[in-house]
Amino acid sequence: MADLSLQGVHKRYGAVQVLHRVDLDIRDGEFLVLVGPSGCGKSTLLRCIAGLEEVSGGSLSIGGRDVTRVPPRDRDVAMVFQSYALYPHMTVRQNMAFALTLKKRPQAEIDAAVQEAARMLDLGALLDRFPKELSGGQRQRVAMGRAIVRRPQVFLFDEPLSNLDARLRAQLRVELKRLHAELGTTMIYVTHDQVEAMTLADRIAVLNGGHLQQVGSPAELYDDPANRFVAGFIGSPSMSFLEGRDPQAVVGVRPHDVELLPAASGGAAGAGTPGALPARIDVVETMGFESYVHLDLAGEALVARVEGAPPSPGPAAVRLRREYRFDRGTGARIR
Ligand SMILES: Nc1ncnc2c1ncn2[C@@H]1O[C@H](COP(=O)(O)OP(=O)(O)OP(=O)(O)O)[C@@H](O)[C@H]1O
Ligand SMILES: [Mg+2]
Repeated sequence: MADLSLQGVHKRYGAVQVLHRVDLDIRDGEFLVLVGPSGCGKSTLLRCIAGLEEVSGGSLSIGGRDVTRVPPRDRDVAMVFQSYALYPHMTVRQNMAFALTLKKRPQAEIDAAVQEAARMLDLGALLDRFPKELSGGQRQRVAMGRAIVRRPQVFLFDEPLSNLDARLRAQLRVELKRLHAELGTTMIYVTHDQVEAMTLADRIAVLNGGHLQQVGSPAELYDDPANRFVAGFIGSPSMSFLEGRDPQAVVGVRPHDVELLPAASGGAAGAGTPGALPARIDVVETMGFESYVHLDLAGEALVARVEGAPPSPGPAAVRLRREYRFDRGTGARIR
């Protein structure tokens, strides 16, 4: 177990700067989730931490030890990729044992480590199978098992669940959380998945175009985003942005902060309610116990999240319970 510190880490491929001065401190035992759009540098950052890529500048320490120039095998980190990359000619047991076999650890120690990882990941019955005899979810568990037996100081996960179907993802997400609680090891986890990010993370780090945007707990990022990018990236359905409501700023509204007012009988919908704004319901997406209501508010798109019976398209009125304001140029939050 160890804390991890990145100081002014940047990374260039030729003329292209992929990471810009990333400063990030990750606490011992923390589960940090790294999110951002495709191509923003998430995998590159993980690979720099693992030592698979050399940084172009800045420094990196693990457990207080400067590892900037230390080769990957001596950094004591284990990485799990999206593609499981299991050895096809080896059984589950041999795949999991591989790192320790390479290190020529005593057989009894290897057996014990594999048994323990198999117990945690519920792979005990599959130890003598080959990868081709496993489901996708089982293969991903073996890939995690291979990392666990090494007992590294830090785990790095690069979208490990993205090849799996939704149900299996949800199941493995819970297992991963349990695993983290049991091992207590520092974990850095890259994902595109909002739900994964929100449910797994102690803190989320949001990256955009190689720039770190904000680091905070899921609740902090959701309630108190530092800028328009973070506000739009975190939360599903996304925050709506209204350009025409405030001359000084772009206004952001979360779907659950949009109150749909009952259409008043014999008059304009919502008439008489303070703060009521006329709108039109265009499309209603029914999700089960709630609906996402797509509205037109003075020519701009606004999404409301409504519980109970779904409303019908047509004239309506809304009240905005909470508005966020962002600088039109920089996107910075105006408080
Ligand atoms: N070896 C390389 N040479 C040149 N450019 C590279 C190299 N590897 C990555 N890049 C570029 O660096 C940027 C960041 O790539 P990276 O793989 O880190 O993105 P990512 O955030 O992991 O994206 P995704 O979500 O699609 O996996 C991309 O624009 C990519 O094209
Ligand atoms: Mg990637």
